[in-house]
Amino acid sequence: MKNMGAQFLIVTVILALASSFAFASDPSPLQDFCVAVDEPEAAVFVNGKFCKDPKLATAEDFFLKGLDVAGDTSNKVGSNVTQVNVAQIAGLNTLGVSLARIDFAPYGLNPPHTHPRATEILTVLEGTLYVGFVTSNPENRLITKVLNKGDVFVFPIGLIHFQFNTGHTNAVAISGFSSQNPGVITIANSVFGSKPPISDDVLSKAFQVEKNVVDYLQAQFWVNN
Ligand SMILES: *[C@@H]1O[C@H](CO)[C@@H](O)[C@H](O)[C@H]1NC(C)=O
Repeated sequence: MKNMGAQFLIVTVILALASSFAFASDPSPLQDFCVAVDEPEAAVFVNGKFCKDPKLATAEDFFLKGLDVAGDTSNKVGSNVTQVNVAQIAGLNTLGVSLARIDFAPYGLNPPHTHPRATEILTVLEGTLYVGFVTSNPENRLITKVLNKGDVFVFPIGLIHFQFNTGHTNAVAISGFSSQNPGVITIANSVFGSKPPISDDVLSKAFQVEKNVVDYLQAQFWVNN
């Protein structure tokens, strides 16, 4: 009997651990919505933004037009991301989702970057994209796929990823994000284009190259995509 009691305890502990590891859900808003306002008269602060009195909310707070218009891809990387997050639609505040349109010139690249606060789910509307992400240390495994019109691909939260137009025509994709404000860290910009620059002692050791290579990279014009 004593033995069975111990076994029961062990099984219970394992189940409790398993359920806590398996637990996952979308964030829960604390009210129907929370339209962001910049200058509240009576400050009520929820989750990083002030909320407008819900009675004063209008359709415009939840609306944006113009996502049918392509971004200008005539830059060094040949891509342009048009963001649709809480900065563009104040009604997204606290709701945990956002969107982006990504345009690519022929052979255009959305360079390696991460979203610190969101998983991304992308679908191709036009063209062909070679996409990929890299898993965290120690494996650093590269997972890639060639996507055509109608294909969907997921980039897990925080992981470095990229999208490259391998076709000789323009490409267009739409991405959804699991955050009202996913954030973007473009690796090249952050590491070699920071203001002020990271010391070349640090970068030459980190990348195991001579300082003149670091200085060359730091001298490039980094496109803020
Ligand atoms: C993206 O396109 C918009 C609209 O054409 C433009 O204002 C912006 O400068 C472009 N961004 C880049 C990084 O080229």
